[in-house]
Amino acid sequence: MKEKLREAIRAVAEKEGRLVVLTGAGISAESGIPTFRGPEGYWTVGSKEYRPEEMATFAMFSRNPDEVWQWYLYRLGVCRKGEPNAGHRAVVEMERLLGDRFLLLTQNVDGLHLRAGNTLERTFQIHGNIEFMRCAADCTRDFFPLPESVATKTKDEPLTDADRAALVCPRCGGRSRPHVLWFDECYDEEHYRFNSSIQAAVAADMLLSVGTSGATNLPMQVGAIASQKNALLVDVNPDSNPFSTMAEGSGGFFCQGPAGDILPEFVDLFAP
Ligand code: OAD
Repeated sequence: MKEKLREAIRAVAEKEGRLVVLTGAGISAESGIPTFRGPEGYWTVGSKEYRPEEMATFAMFSRNPDEVWQWYLYRLGVCRKGEPNAGHRAVVEMERLLGDRFLLLTQNVDGLHLRAGNTLERTFQIHGNIEFMRCAADCTRDFFPLPESVATKTKDEPLTDADRAALVCPRCGGRSRPHVLWFDECYDEEHYRFNSSIQAAVAADMLLSVGTSGATNLPMQVGAIASQKNALLVDVNPDSNPFSTMAEGSGGFFCQGPAGDILPEFVDLFAP
């Protein structure tokens, strides 16, 4: 690791600064979960009949809920097969060392950060979590774990009547939907911690972005705010991207490579 990067992180740690870690699909790539925009990515490969950007919309869910649920239950199976990797474990260590000076904003719906050991209290799942569902008609703002009886699917395996009967809102009995943010929907605080994420960016002394292509709105706002507030920006990614550009343009650092190799090297720098 470059000495200048080491010194910059130590300076944040020594002044007891606040760390915000922002992760995208790249941190789970080494766990075998496809990214969205990589060569094998969900948005690149597509599903049977629809372009995935159409699939991940409330409009598509309204027209064809079975097809959308089937696709999410297929992805759920992929997520459940994945195990946390060295990158996730390094982020757990950072939380352990920093406590309340740590926050994790993740775009990933795979739940791997929580399975690795990050706490729900300090983990904002800003695009939801694929293990949960909620009322499609918003009869309640609560969300619920998927019923155990609902099995994951192979790619083109249809829903069963039993799945349909189980995938209902526990409050009103109407249709449930995956607890994820779709392309035709907006961030909010209750489901996706929008305001809390903005506040975290304002208060951050360091933003560590990992494995994201910067294609979504809230993460880019978080980066721009942290940069304006003169936080130290460090980006970890095998490829250059808007966060690496932001980091290098603000006196921060772009660490080019896979998260599982690079993040473990940072952990000790946060020790008291
Ligand atoms: P993308 O698929 O857009 O980008 C994945 C990023 O991970 C790319 O920049 C890769 O270079 C990088 N990457 C690949 N392997 C890596 C590794 N081993 N270590 C570190 N980085 C690696 O995924 P996201 O940026 O997460 O939203 O996509 C953002 C959002 O777009 C997703 O949450 C999803 C999608 O639409 C919703 O579904 C709401």
